[in-house]
Amino acid sequence: MCGIFAYMNYRVPKTRKEIFETLIKGLQRLEYRGYDSAGVAIDGNNHEVKERHIHLVKKKGKVKALDEELYKQDSMDLKVEFETHFGIAHTRWATHGVPNAVNSHPQRSDKDNEFVVIHNGIITNYKDLRKFLESKGYEFESETDTETIAKLIKYVFDNRETEDITFSTLVERVIQQLEGAFALVFKSIHYPGEAVATRRGSPLLIGVRSKYKLSTEQIPILYRTCNIENVKSICKTRMKRLDSSTCLHAVGDKAVEFFFASDASAIIEHTNRVIFLEDDDIAAVADGKLSIHRVKRSASDDPSRAIQTLQMELQQIMKGNFSAFMQKEIFEQPESVFNTMRGRVNFETNTVLLGGLKDHLKEIRRCRRLIVIGCGTSYHAAVATRQVLEELTELPVMVELASDFLDRNTPVFRDDVCFFISQSGETADTLLALRYCKDRGALTVGITNTVGSSISRETDCGVHINAGPEIGVASTKAYTSQFISLVMFGLMMSEDRISLQNRRQEIIRGLRSLPELIKEVLSLDEKIHDLALELYTQRSLLVMGRGYNYATCLEGALKIKEITYMHSEGILAGELKHGPLALVDKQMPVIMVIMKDPCFAKCQNALQQVTARQGRPIILCSKNDTESPKFAYKTIELPHTVDCLQGILSVIPLQLLSFHLAVLRGYDVDFPRNLAKSVTVE
Ligand code: F6R
Repeated sequence: MCGIFAYMNYRVPKTRKEIFETLIKGLQRLEYRGYDSAGVAIDGNNHEVKERHIHLVKKKGKVKALDEELYKQDSMDLKVEFETHFGIAHTRWATHGVPNAVNSHPQRSDKDNEFVVIHNGIITNYKDLRKFLESKGYEFESETDTETIAKLIKYVFDNRETEDITFSTLVERVIQQLEGAFALVFKSIHYPGEAVATRRGSPLLIGVRSKYKLSTEQIPILYRTCNIENVKSICKTRMKRLDSSTCLHAVGDKAVEFFFASDASAIIEHTNRVIFLEDDDIAAVADGKLSIHRVKRSASDDPSRAIQTLQMELQQIMKGNFSAFMQKEIFEQPESVFNTMRGRVNFETNTVLLGGLKDHLKEIRRCRRLIVIGCGTSYHAAVATRQVLEELTELPVMVELASDFLDRNTPVFRDDVCFFISQSGETADTLLALRYCKDRGALTVGITNTVGSSISRETDCGVHINAGPEIGVASTKAYTSQFISLVMFGLMMSEDRISLQNRRQEIIRGLRSLPELIKEVLSLDEKIHDLALELYTQRSLLVMGRGYNYATCLEGALKIKEITYMHSEGILAGELKHGPLALVDKQMPVIMVIMKDPCFAKCQNALQQVTARQGRPIILCSKNDTESPKFAYKTIELPHTVDCLQGILSVIPLQLLSFHLAVLRGYDVDFPRNLAKSVTVE
């Protein structure tokens, strides 16, 4: 996830300082979407719009670092006034390439900055596009997927069939070649004072501010005919023929300001009049007029985009309709798990390709064992996937808490492969364990959510889980994305095992339906809230399960203790009679995770042991389970999926329960006492 912000003042004079301030404030509002580097593209000093060049300022670190950098630019006269100006800005959460100035946005077409672009999303076919463009002599300077877009628009421009091709036509041709998700805003020296923005899969909206009455409140969509005869397919994707009519309508032809942003939090302080773009809309501003066109009709087939009036408060917008980032992140999981799989799992061919591991696959296949190391929630992701990794890789798999692994001076060998799971990529214990394994010659693999983090830099290879920034201290969406990343690794390792093909297909089918099933689980929120109302005054809460769902219990109990401050324990149901059963009585609330999987019968035994002690079990069970509810005090029924993925669905009610318990107990969910998001000390 990244944040996009752009600002156009048309016949509304602004000094460069004012423009900087608007851009920086916009980025600061979006910083929660990503904060590893930031950049802007603005015009040079020349008064004559047509003669201005584009000036780029980019900086690693938070928006504040960029802000300081802007004022250090000698060539930038802060007092110079622009009657019309278009500035674009970006705050990045890296997905391709480490956070540094070169990889940050805007990305450019060439050294003269003829075209610059800001991007939120992931271009999955960027390697093909890059290869094609390199073969045509375009030189790349960054490791990003976004730079391909900047070069591609220049390629289309350089090969245009007519001199008077419009900026939006260029963008239209570019997006037909792109696969993946994007929100894009373009600026070019060839189209001074003009802006083009478009989106597919990533959000983008436009705010409009004018003293004058706008010429329309509805912007009709222009379905355009475009002659692409001369532009041949330039990569694997074929350019499609386009159809339909022409029409142009515009708003704001006198003095007007336009604000482009990834979400309304960056716009609301300037105007509450906004237009939400839909997938494949191309919005263009020229001579102060905004028009929107499409190359294909939208699913809704709405022939216009309305200018809407937002009624929201700023804080509300940043967290959407959610009261805390943790809650927002729980509800983002249909999208975040999809992003983890995007461009990696091919559901047609039943194959998985993790680009960051493919060059090391042979070596991994030859190894003696896998050691998976992490702390807290990240460790639980390792526990959750251990069994399926053993099954798919046919290798011994050790899972280790980083601190304990180090305390034991665990023997590690050259032919071990060690995985380091870390959302932040900075956890000190995990980092030290990584260095320990490296010193002993093992191959090291990072599974992180933070490109450019210490763990992602110091490992030999790795997987970026692509969950987007996690702000809430309690980890939620990172867990499900780590889980999926490890399953994907197992699937990649077993690609040529004939005996495992049916199992692989079953798991891949399960992965495909996960986003929809997660939505179904999230719809239980109200029921879980009601359960929290019954439980929030308790002192203690036990969570029991076994097999694939033992990790669910550990993770659920961790969520409960860290944000509700209640005592909670994740108990392996097989261990019940070896001690924990003594805790069970009429008073003690017990949550039992019982799924229709190979441990079902054994879980029934545990259930009997609990009910025999007058325990009142709250059971998370499969929808088709007719047995368990008979003994339950309360039941929460979950959709069924393949056994090794069930833990992704069953952990979500526990995430929601911990959230509601914490709110009811009056605690700050996003900032639990004594804890920090990134634990950089041992
Ligand atoms: C729990 C939680 C922590 C982290 C742990 C490791 O909700 O967030 O237990 O999982 O501190 O952090 P990372 O994954 O950043 O290494």
